[in-house]
Amino acid sequence: MEFSAFKQTYWRWVFLLISSLLVSSTLGDPRITNAGLFCGVSQALNGTNYVPDFTELMKELSDGISNNHFASYRLNASLPMYGLTQCYEDLKQTDCLLCYAEARTRIPRCLPRSARIFLDGCFLRYDYDNNFFQEAVSSVDTVNCSTNNVTMYREVNNRRVNLFETNVEYAVGNVTSIALRKGRFGTVGVDGIYALAQCWESLTPEGCRQCLQNASMSVRRCMPGDEGRALNAGCYLRYSTRKFYNEGGDSADDHGISIGVIIAIVSATSAFLTLAISAAYIIYTKVSKRKRELKNLGRISKKFDKSGLKFKYENLEKATDYFSLSRKLGQGGAGSVFMGILPDGKTVAVKRLVYNTRQWVDDFFNEVNLISRIQHKNLVKLLGASIEGPESLLVYEYVPNKSLDQFIFDEEKSKLLNWKQRLNIIVGTAEGLAHLHGGGSHVRIIHRDIKCSNVLLDDNLNAKIADFGLVRCLATEKSHLSTGIAGTLGYMAPEYLVRGQLSEKADVYSFGVLVLEIVCGKKNSSFTTAGSLLQTVWTLYRSNVLAEAIDPCIRDEMSEKEAPEVLRVGLLCTQASVLLRPSMAEVVQMLTDEDYETPTPNQPPFLNANVLEAANSSRSYSTDSFVANALKKIQGSGTSSDTTRTRSSEDASRTL
Ligand SMILES: *[C@@H]1O[C@H](CO)[C@@H](O)[C@H](O)[C@H]1NC(C)=O
Ligand SMILES: *[C@@H]1O[C@H](CO)[C@@H](O)[C@H](O)[C@H]1NC(C)=O
Ligand SMILES: *[C@@H]1O[C@H](CO)[C@@H](O)[C@H](O)[C@H]1NC(C)=O
Ligand SMILES: *[C@@H]1O[C@H](CO)[C@@H](O)[C@H](O)[C@H]1NC(C)=O
Ligand SMILES: *[C@@H]1O[C@H](CO)[C@@H](O)[C@H](O)[C@H]1NC(C)=O
Ligand SMILES: *[C@@H]1O[C@H](CO)[C@@H](O)[C@H](O)[C@H]1NC(C)=O
Repeated sequence: MEFSAFKQTYWRWVFLLISSLLVSSTLGDPRITNAGLFCGVSQALNGTNYVPDFTELMKELSDGISNNHFASYRLNASLPMYGLTQCYEDLKQTDCLLCYAEARTRIPRCLPRSARIFLDGCFLRYDYDNNFFQEAVSSVDTVNCSTNNVTMYREVNNRRVNLFETNVEYAVGNVTSIALRKGRFGTVGVDGIYALAQCWESLTPEGCRQCLQNASMSVRRCMPGDEGRALNAGCYLRYSTRKFYNEGGDSADDHGISIGVIIAIVSATSAFLTLAISAAYIIYTKVSKRKRELKNLGRISKKFDKSGLKFKYENLEKATDYFSLSRKLGQGGAGSVFMGILPDGKTVAVKRLVYNTRQWVDDFFNEVNLISRIQHKNLVKLLGASIEGPESLLVYEYVPNKSLDQFIFDEEKSKLLNWKQRLNIIVGTAEGLAHLHGGGSHVRIIHRDIKCSNVLLDDNLNAKIADFGLVRCLATEKSHLSTGIAGTLGYMAPEYLVRGQLSEKADVYSFGVLVLEIVCGKKNSSFTTAGSLLQTVWTLYRSNVLAEAIDPCIRDEMSEKEAPEVLRVGLLCTQASVLLRPSMAEVVQMLTDEDYETPTPNQPPFLNANVLEAANSSRSYSTDSFVANALKKIQGSGTSSDTTRTRSSEDASRTL
């Protein structure tokens, strides 16, 4: 059959294309491939606690870039820290955020030293002096070249001319002049060569010129590689045989290659075929994507109608009094929450998402559908969503008694929660989390941001966990992207904070912190020099006086007996190594089953970035893979054997 024959050929082409180039559609791609991570020489002062400073700097940059493509910040700390981030101009805002999130997850590998990271969609740098805002070129600038060689010869007057090199020089030269003419950014696609140039916005026009001219010279060293990137202090320039940037940039011309002129092809990577296919593929995807989008939206929308989860945007707007400030209940990582009163009188909480989910409509619907089916007495119920209005909204059950942090960290209100109620909240939260982690259903969800403000209390002061699940659809296939930046310092597990490594055990860690906070009535103020709450409790535990840690408001006969047991569970959950932490199901058993033998916590919580410190090397500049290797070593040592345990305990007492 003609049709299936066509399809087969098509799929073979696509397969060939994908396997040879690892191409995906260039649309809606945050371009998070790592082009280079470089650790600098300057570093935090010895003995200072740089992790909170770093995290705050990154948070400020994240805020700055939330509706912009550039952000810079100066953090006033004992040793001031400076940061700068730039998304390339063709990236959509959402992709920009995702790209930043990825860069932010990878860059801490260099801590406590300064660092810069180039992804294919954005740049991020921090340092301890501010000279770099204006820096155009520096001695560590480098190129990252592909080793796939391309050669395309053409006969001109009986002489062989290397067409590929001519084309690259032309494209690179042109993209430089286009970027300089337009300000800071330009793209060009000529004769099958695509290029993009971007200067950081902190640079003066003169600095930009200097940087791009330098970059356009150095990137030529990559020929005959089919891909080259110049990674300079003030700019990024890339050429490639495939189109990697988004439309809307200044494309001089885009009609691909002129087949007639290529007479001989000698290529390490069958460049010609891939070029022809890319052209065909790009045209195909352009046409079919639009069609598919329309069809998809219609289909989803029908499915959504039927599901009973659909809310009309206009109705929610009215229900929340047009998102009036007086109705605002709070602000979370993914958006702000408003109280709404539906026409039938029912009170709900409406969350207004910062991300536009249009690109993920399909995933979003599936996610909403899935989460709405998760029902547990300790989880806030998702009632539905609106996906067709100008922004995406989620509708949740309304939980009247505010969040836990407004009770236990408040001098007056904390007295309202006695020991029995607090224990009930702890057990409820544990059960809710165990359910999310897969107990009772086949769905496994990692919350990623367990903290007091995400635990709501109902009329009877039962715990209800809010804000779970959603993040996944913002990042399907992009693994751990997304709320890496939304996690809250002080609650974030060390492996997650440093390496972006995410598992259920990261939630277990956060839960452990929550337990200590509830029992002690104190906030774990990240890693202050005075010693964090984790630190204090651990010390009391080692001296066998754990009862001293209990919040004075709740000290009575009952709590003196039970609370130390619960604190031990908290300490078990906050052990630095992932393997030593129990699962949530085990935690529930420890808390509810009197006969259950609670193991002894052996390892102190994450302290003062010991894990990071161990990653230091004496090398001043290192490549990504070097650091990655070093990290692998720590990973190995951090997760096994008794020797590690004792070593970390020693580290712990040293930092005390
Ligand atoms: C160069 O770029 C590639 C992506 O094309 C990346 O995999 C590689 O790690 C980069 N090299 C260095 C030294 O960072
Ligand atoms: C910090 O301490 C290490 C050894 O612990 C030492 O090698 C290094 O030079 C010190 N750095 C500074 C800036 O004092
Ligand atoms: C930075 O901190 C120092 C001391 O903490 C203070 O004197 C100074 O005014 C601060 N500067 C700014 C710009 O906030
Ligand atoms: C590509 O070309 C460079 C320079 O001409 C050469 O050093 C390298 O070995 C070639 N690589 C391959 C895979 O042929
Ligand atoms: C592109 O480059 C060629 C030669 O390098 C030059 O003649 C031409 O004017 C350039 N075009 C643009 C738009 O800069
Ligand atoms: C780019 O600038 C760096 C730093 O000044 C310099 O070492 C390098 O030679 C320059 N490259 C070119 C191609 O001009």
